[in-house]
Amino acid sequence: MSEKERNDAKKGENKDKPGHGKRILLRTFGCQMNERDSEFIAGLFLKRGYRLADSPDGADIILFNTCSVREHAEKRAISSMGQLMHKYEDKKIYAVAGCAAQALKEKLFKQLPKLNIVCGTGEIARLPELVKEAPGRRIAALDGIDAPLPESSLSYRTSKNHAYVSIMRGCDNFCSYCIVPYVRGRERSRREGDIINEIRDLVAGGITDITLLGQNVNSYKGIARNDGEGKTCNFVRLLTIINGVEGMEKIRFMTSHPKDANNELFKAVRELDKVVKHLHLPLQSGSDRILRLMNRGYTAEKYLGLAAGARKIVPGLRFTTDIITGFPTEKEKDFEDTLRMMKKIKFDFAYIFKYSPRPGTTAAKLEDDVPEDVKKRNHRALLDLQKEISRRKNEKNCRHSRV
Ligand code: 5AD
Ligand code: SF4
Repeated sequence: MSEKERNDAKKGENKDKPGHGKRILLRTFGCQMNERDSEFIAGLFLKRGYRLADSPDGADIILFNTCSVREHAEKRAISSMGQLMHKYEDKKIYAVAGCAAQALKEKLFKQLPKLNIVCGTGEIARLPELVKEAPGRRIAALDGIDAPLPESSLSYRTSKNHAYVSIMRGCDNFCSYCIVPYVRGRERSRREGDIINEIRDLVAGGITDITLLGQNVNSYKGIARNDGEGKTCNFVRLLTIINGVEGMEKIRFMTSHPKDANNELFKAVRELDKVVKHLHLPLQSGSDRILRLMNRGYTAEKYLGLAAGARKIVPGLRFTTDIITGFPTEKEKDFEDTLRMMKKIKFDFAYIFKYSPRPGTTAAKLEDDVPEDVKKRNHRALLDLQKEISRRKNEKNCRHSRV
């Protein structure tokens, strides 16, 4: 979207376009992929002459782009939408899009009686069309979760310096607790050339800092440019090419999967001057038994080797992780294995979650048998441990920087 189009849209011009300057409140829940999807959605609406609203007051359309990764995320979006429906008597269009829409489907109409649109992850490009058809109706658009990635070069960007760039979509790993493959479909990579063109456009628009997004960036496999023979480009090659884009200053990426991360990646992180020295490598559990049940495809020992290798190869690496506690059948011994791993590895930061059963996943067939108070206690203990590790690391860094 050009600067002029963006400004016109903000000022509410473009009144001759289908949106007629109507105002849309777009709220995003969940991860960076959703942030990016919301920018894409905002771009679609602005291009059609709608305006973005900052608050529900006076908004004509309320659209939530939702997350389904834990029950709490789903509930938060639904109850917040319910409150808005209750508060506003005027005729608004209400729409729920994204992962929770894909997971809960038409059930959302029962939970939110005033809801007009349920739009799954594969149909977000149709949202303006759905909104146009919505008055007085209920529409569910839930097909195409395996559709190719929507092209995003025209879309709106929230930040002037930093941009998220989706390099792939979906996931093939089927970790047993995870809803993502069911709501975002099979893994598909964008073409190398399309990504590079998008990044060049971003640089031309003043962006110097990007984050490449994918559920498992290490398995990126896009069709290479100038491809006469069906050649593909892997993630390290993609990073190398992006590192060479003139004007780009900082490149981050997330998320890596321990089963696919290797020394080639770590060396690229070290060698490529624009790549930020940060690796987010979700551990999830320190117990081999639980890792097996989670279908993670690695052992604690393999993970320890990766962590040591990454830190050895990339001096000063910031190393972060995700951990889940309270997975079905988790016993004190498994939990202690996780504590031990955290003490050994000393992550720079850890996102720590209580297990939340997601209907449709394989783990949801297991009894959610860790009592809530145990989940809470262990969650607290992991948070406290990480806080202490981070505090000591900071102290150490301060001591070093003082000399
Ligand atoms: N329950 C709790 N945490 C989960 N995550 C994914 N699915 C679940 C679930 N069902 C966590 C994982 C993942 C992060 C994005 O969210 O740690 O890496
Ligand atoms: Fe992101 Fe997963 Fe939540 Fe979807 S379910 S918004 S992919 S974290």
